[in-house]
Amino acid sequence: MPGFVGAQHEFHDAEFVRGWASRFVPTEPRLQLFDMILKEVEKLGKAQAHVVELGTGPGYMARHMLERNTDITFEALDFSDVFMDVARETLGDLTSRVTFTNADLMQQDWPQKLNQKPDAIVSTWALHDLGGQQPVADVYARCFEALPAGGLLANGDFIKPDGTDWDYEPGRFEIDRHIEFLRAAGFADPKSLIHLEPNIEDPTAAQNYACLVAQR
Ligand SMILES: C[S@@+](CC[C@H](N)C(=O)[O-])C[C@H]1O[C@@H](n2cnc3c(N)ncnc32)[C@H](O)[C@@H]1O
Repeated sequence: MPGFVGAQHEFHDAEFVRGWASRFVPTEPRLQLFDMILKEVEKLGKAQAHVVELGTGPGYMARHMLERNTDITFEALDFSDVFMDVARETLGDLTSRVTFTNADLMQQDWPQKLNQKPDAIVSTWALHDLGGQQPVADVYARCFEALPAGGLLANGDFIKPDGTDWDYEPGRFEIDRHIEFLRAAGFADPKSLIHLEPNIEDPTAAQNYACLVAQR
């Protein structure tokens, strides 16, 4: 019988955040998403590419990328000081290569808070938490404005799979709609590279995420 897919978070509550971070340790398909996004960054062919991550959370993708590529510089944007503390712990010595920026993606001035112009903006499992389609479309528009010509946006996030009878929280919506929003933001050739952990019949809130990429 169809049900509902969604999750409630308390991003500013230390106990919730630490419990969540310990349950969320990346699985094999999640690591595959990190590798895919890193490959897209490396395809830019830019020395010392500056990567901004939107919603760094516990820092699992940040650590994955910084360990494998010693050339990139990294800016971790989040609105939760508690998550930033956890990210610093996850990153350990790598923290010295990371700038932390506290900003709310619901506020349209977040790009002005960045320390440096990004060559790539990346994100995983964060934008759906903005609570709807319009906030995601707004973030895509701000990313287009913030990136230089040729700059990369890569968003790995939960989606609503085509063909499902289940209801999804509003921040999880169809890949085609993401592509529409990316085009409307100005990106010429947005695409989805993969749909990971697909499950239409009996999905959990941790399944069905896509890797959306667009180049300015
Ligand atoms: C699932 S975590 C991201 C996990 C991360 N990609 C990783 O690999 O560890 C989502 C993050 O998005 C952040 N977030 C949610 N809403 C936000 C907002 N409006 N502005 C900034 N960050 C936000 C949360 O605080 C949380 O740290």
